[in-house]
Amino acid sequence: MPDLAVSRRSLLADASAALMRAGVPAPRREALRLWAEIAPGAMEALVLNPDAPVDPRKQRDLETLVRRRSEGEPFAYVVGRTGFRRLVLRCDRRALIPRPETEGLVDLLLAKVRTGRVADVGTGTGCLALSLATEGAFEQVIAADVSLEAIALADENRREVGAPVQLVLGDLCDPLADGSLDALVSNPPYLTSAEYAVLDPAVRQWEPGMALESGADGMATTGRLLTEGRRVIKPGGWIALEVDCTRAMMAATRARELGWRDVVVETDLFGRERYLLARRSAVT
Ligand SMILES: C[S@@+](CC[C@H](N)C(=O)[O-])C[C@H]1O[C@@H](n2cnc3c(N)ncnc32)[C@H](O)[C@@H]1O
Repeated sequence: MPDLAVSRRSLLADASAALMRAGVPAPRREALRLWAEIAPGAMEALVLNPDAPVDPRKQRDLETLVRRRSEGEPFAYVVGRTGFRRLVLRCDRRALIPRPETEGLVDLLLAKVRTGRVADVGTGTGCLALSLATEGAFEQVIAADVSLEAIALADENRREVGAPVQLVLGDLCDPLADGSLDALVSNPPYLTSAEYAVLDPAVRQWEPGMALESGADGMATTGRLLTEGRRVIKPGGWIALEVDCTRAMMAATRARELGWRDVVVETDLFGRERYLLARRSAVT
């Protein structure tokens, strides 16, 4: 006997209830957003004809997404994409989900440098490199990561966006030539091991640890970028880093000690000290 088709209204009610039981905030809104992934125009259809029957395959697809979300998987991974500035990027467990506060790093760098050669070190989904390639006027944009999985995802995004970004696999600045860059941008891992250990499970259990944790003081990767950046950035070129808001001043002090000049800390959209910009001295 064929399954009895459920109505749009009852499917949405069941999905909302399942998400609510799992503790997902704003369960009805998320149920609607998940349903819209499967059935474009779903919101309008629901309003116009809530009692219309739902195709059983679409019902099963929605139930799968609701189950994944109920198990704690981040929304962006469940739907497989996320927005970053002007771009919609593929997003899955191979890389960190780009955060809204990272978007500001692009504006800060573009205010300093728009042309020449730039590298995004620790590219993840490729969000920074692809934004710079589409919004700047760079001659070359390099996207580097030590994770082969992240590079594969960034490659998929590069193809979808259609931006001329060169992908390289390697440890921080190792793949970059001496004095080759006008700018280096990075959102490196910057949590301490202790912070990482108590991080919200919604992040720790799903997003790659190597994207988040950086040694006992959280400064290991930032410190290395400040050191190695001096090798790969041309005299007068810029480094722009996202930093932990509790360690921004520590990072600025480290930068000055290493000989960077014009060191500034900038705040993010939440008013937190989030970015470090500095310039390599014009004299080597
Ligand atoms: C915080 S995530 C940032 C990803 C992306 N740029 C963004 O803003 O969403 C840090 C990235 O750095 C990469 N990474 C960590 N250690 C690295 C290393 N030693 N060399 C190159 N990349 C590294 C991770 O694989 C991860 O993709």
